[in-house]
Amino acid sequence: MEVKKMFLGLVLFAVLPLGAQQNPVYLDKSKSIEERVEDALHRLTLKEKIAMVHAQSKFSSPGVARLGIPDFWMTDGPHGIRPEVLWDEWEQAGWSNDSCVAFPALTCLAATWNPEVSHLYGKSIGEEARFRNKTVLLGPGVNIYRTPLNGRNFEYMGEDPYLASRMVVPYVQGVQQNGVAACVKHFALNNQEVNRHTTNVVVDDRALYEIYLPAFKAAVQEGKAWAIMGSYNLYKGQHCCHNQYLLNDILKGEWGFDGVVISDWGGVHDTDQAITNGLDMEFGSWTNGLSNGASNAYDNYYLALPYLQRIQSGKVGTKELDDKVRRILRLALRTTMNTDRPFGSMLSPEHYKAARRIGEEGIVLLKNKNAVLPIDLSKVKKIAVIGENALKMMTVGGGSSSLKVQHEISPLDGLKERIGNKAEIVYARGYVGDASGEYNGVVTGQNLKDNRSVKELTDEAVKVASEADCVIFIGGLNKSAHQDCEDYDRKGLGLSYGQDELIAALAKANKNLVVVNISGNAVAMPWLAQVPAVLQAWYLGSEAGHALASVLMGDTNPSGKLPFTFPARLEDVGAHQSGEYIGTKSQDVVNEEYNEGIFVGYRWADKQKNVKPLFPFGYGLSYTTFAYSKPAIDKKIMSSDEEVTLTVKVKNTGAREGQEVVQLYISDKQSSLPRPVKELKGFAKVKLAPGEEKEVSFAINKDALSYFDDKKHEWVAEPGKFEAIVAASAADIKGVVPFELK
Ligand code: BGC
Repeated sequence: MEVKKMFLGLVLFAVLPLGAQQNPVYLDKSKSIEERVEDALHRLTLKEKIAMVHAQSKFSSPGVARLGIPDFWMTDGPHGIRPEVLWDEWEQAGWSNDSCVAFPALTCLAATWNPEVSHLYGKSIGEEARFRNKTVLLGPGVNIYRTPLNGRNFEYMGEDPYLASRMVVPYVQGVQQNGVAACVKHFALNNQEVNRHTTNVVVDDRALYEIYLPAFKAAVQEGKAWAIMGSYNLYKGQHCCHNQYLLNDILKGEWGFDGVVISDWGGVHDTDQAITNGLDMEFGSWTNGLSNGASNAYDNYYLALPYLQRIQSGKVGTKELDDKVRRILRLALRTTMNTDRPFGSMLSPEHYKAARRIGEEGIVLLKNKNAVLPIDLSKVKKIAVIGENALKMMTVGGGSSSLKVQHEISPLDGLKERIGNKAEIVYARGYVGDASGEYNGVVTGQNLKDNRSVKELTDEAVKVASEADCVIFIGGLNKSAHQDCEDYDRKGLGLSYGQDELIAALAKANKNLVVVNISGNAVAMPWLAQVPAVLQAWYLGSEAGHALASVLMGDTNPSGKLPFTFPARLEDVGAHQSGEYIGTKSQDVVNEEYNEGIFVGYRWADKQKNVKPLFPFGYGLSYTTFAYSKPAIDKKIMSSDEEVTLTVKVKNTGAREGQEVVQLYISDKQSSLPRPVKELKGFAKVKLAPGEEKEVSFAINKDALSYFDDKKHEWVAEPGKFEAIVAASAADIKGVVPFELK
């Protein structure tokens, strides 16, 4: 007997590969993720589980060391990998191996209207995150552009739910193919910075489902995002980091999200709600995310000892805890415990190339009278470059998206490098905006102090401008407080620091003036009629100067299109005319009514018959021209289970290669509920050589025709008449085809 048993043991040992006998199920790659999650869950003690649902440092939470489950490391996000910070401080740790490549801000990415570029973005930033051993990238952000005052619009993807949806999916996929989770933020209704902790958003279900949620839904259902971040604000009286409606009912219920809900830093306020209302991981408590609460006692977190005590005293059960821990274990198996994931890379030439390409494709040419652009060096021998943003490093500042870069090419340096000795470049400061250059201990090292008076600065700039063949003014906003920065909204639509007066003076001094506006937001342009050329250049990251010079000089033909409307006045924005925007600070919870409902961005502009935006959504010029054929569809009447195919030909009628973004809007002509005049439901970016023509086709199905019926709580495609509108922007319609849904 004894001998037989031993023999069997020896046989087993010989047949199974070495080590396989010891492999517990949770480490066994041949088992499904769900089996492995269950196995790991049952090995954990109560205290280990509690430890996993809250932070242990500013940006990490514990795994289970005795089981080989690694800690979870979070990083901002969304434009590059944040420098390492001290264990319990926001201050950078001062490592010398944590510089990154800064990619352009997400407004720029959205302006490319190119999902392929978005995948490149996600893949590249994901590789940097992976190489830096991060588990979760805190981004991308897809909060809808509701007001141009929102200080964080630059971190988001514009005003249209369809555009943001199409752009967020490949970003998430690109990040996650590295075995790093994307954490889509800030879920939801975080559309301003003033009162970000105290605004209780009051919004109807139609606007919620049609405008504010689709990009999150696409990220979850199509992008298969592994994490999502709750937002600071409230909805239906509950903070969104523990919000029954948004997290349990919609995200985990209706959408079937199986990933983790991570709180925004300091976004948790209540243990009982945090237990029951869908939160999985608590971070940054007792901070306001940025300036307060440098140091925390992690055991006092809402989901730490207070949670443990409730369980130990029998006040609450462990059902919710197990659900949270299952999700966290799933996260580990998808990321750090996936032994097949790639190794990542950082600071690679490919990442710089990607950053440059995204920048070049996102820059938007807003005006180009008399073909001032591209700059023709056979005629232009002296160029005046004026403005602080020609010099200022823009990767430091703006809040949690601030970075420590390996290098950043300024616009002025980019131009100098590109032009070499083919023309003389003379620089004048013109105005002094924000001379500081520090964020959490990361310093730009630039000394931008200038004590000259406004008159001295203006006189110098005007003199330099009048002596040059052409003038490039580079200004805009700058990521300091109230100038596109987290925790602050802008105070108005206008440019600060006397830039409007300066631009007007420059326009008088030289008729060949190019204004480059660097911002993540629409700005007022009272001088527009006097200025022949205007470029919208976003925060372009490490390769800013190269990307900008390439467009200014015509090496790149601009193909970016605005991802949001530039209103002529703030009063022309729905949130400011019809809805509420509470810009005064409040410590108490304040209701803010989104009375404009579904009419956000161009949906509002379209409704106001007599109000023209400064520049419409979807707008952007090229150095070439395009002609559209009459669009055609393959059937005039469709049923709800059918598709209609629309085709249109686009031809490059100019002398340069260029890219056009063909836009498809749908207009519902007969509907029981109010609908926008038209809504974006398709787009395609086509590259065309001079004289080349291509056919673009769009499939239109019932999703493109549907609205959210708030009474029935479902999407409805109502039979009746529709129009398919082919356009080059929300205000430039190229062709209309009527059709009908049976
Ligand atoms: C921001 C988040 C960010 C987090 C961590 C918060 O203040 O709202 O977007 O990811 O801080 O830095």
